[in-house]
Amino acid sequence: MLAAYAARIDAENPLSGLDVGERPAPEAPDGWVRVHVRATSLNHHDLWSLRGVGLPADRLPMILGCDAAGVTDDGREVVVHAVISDADWSGDETLDPGRSLLSERYQGTFADQVVVPHRNLVPKPAGLSWAEAACLPTAWLTAYRMLFVRSGLRPGDTVLVQGAGGGVATALVRLGSAAGFRVWVTSRTEAKRARARALGAEQAFASGERLPSRVDAVMETVGAATWSHSLRALRPGGTMVICGATSGPNPSATELNRIFFLQLRVLGSTMGTRDELERLVGFCELTGIRPLIDTVLPLEEARDGFARMQSGELVGKIVFTRP
Ligand SMILES: NC(=O)c1ccc[n+]([C@@H]2O[C@H](COP(=O)([O-])OP(=O)(O)OC[C@H]3O[C@@H](n4cnc5c(N)ncnc54)[C@H](OP(=O)(O)O)[C@@H]3O)[C@@H](O)[C@H]2O)c1
Repeated sequence: MLAAYAARIDAENPLSGLDVGERPAPEAPDGWVRVHVRATSLNHHDLWSLRGVGLPADRLPMILGCDAAGVTDDGREVVVHAVISDADWSGDETLDPGRSLLSERYQGTFADQVVVPHRNLVPKPAGLSWAEAACLPTAWLTAYRMLFVRSGLRPGDTVLVQGAGGGVATALVRLGSAAGFRVWVTSRTEAKRARARALGAEQAFASGERLPSRVDAVMETVGAATWSHSLRALRPGGTMVICGATSGPNPSATELNRIFFLQLRVLGSTMGTRDELERLVGFCELTGIRPLIDTVLPLEEARDGFARMQSGELVGKIVFTRP
């Protein structure tokens, strides 16, 4: 079957390790199910994998991709949950120390077929296209958990989203505005700030710009480049929820004094549960909001999608389709 996979690890030039070609179709072990992939979406996680973050060379070749929407052997239309917990784990699977994401230990979704545990399937509603459904399992689920599970925000509160153009960030803007939060964003380009306003952001600022007032919460995916601005943006007692560090994990100053003196809360967040994914799907169905898709490409052209993400030019999600 056709697949886009990590054949080599290269921290400096990640795309040099990406191959698009034939891989063996997977076998489904007991309790697992085969999904024929109709659409899948790219996440920054896939670039990290090619750099060797979370993917050691001894697991190669590894089919990349966490997200998929497709059809099971018995004809069910499904969205695939990417968090694989131990078979005997019960409760919140993001807290299972043995959990992994598809493409870390088990082969990923950038392929004609993927196999996952039966419990990792969520029904796909007819109102969501294949491409839209394929955007939900990682970026949108992560945004859902950050906003609605971790942040403590209530409708009417003000939330700042750093780096407005990314997959997680555009999901935060759409979900947050649909839920009645006052959403402010920062971005490095005016074009992306304008797109964020069109998506539902009330105000958009240049990266690092002084805000007119302090906010109740900040959603962080950028890391070192925006850390200090995020801390300064928070009101006393405010909350930062962080799920990623695209620009690097080590800010030049950690500013612990600001955290304790203003009694800030800094919370990590990772992916979400299968039940949160089901609620997210229902939220999209109910409200009519849909993922912002930057580009749709056939899987054969996956390399172009990776290059676009690496360039940082994208606004929203990059989707790969299968016939
Ligand atoms: N913990 C989890 O479960 C989880 C889940 C999903 C994603 N993540 C992490 O969250 C981050 C975002 O993921 P994504 O898939 O949304 O990535 P993406 O689509 O590539 O978005 C990256 C965004 O970061 C922003 N950015 C701002 N300053 C930057 C800088 N100095 N260098 C690079 N980027 C900068 C950019 O926004 P502007 O151009 O608008 O400024 C860009 O659009 C990644 O690090 C990813 O690994 C974690």
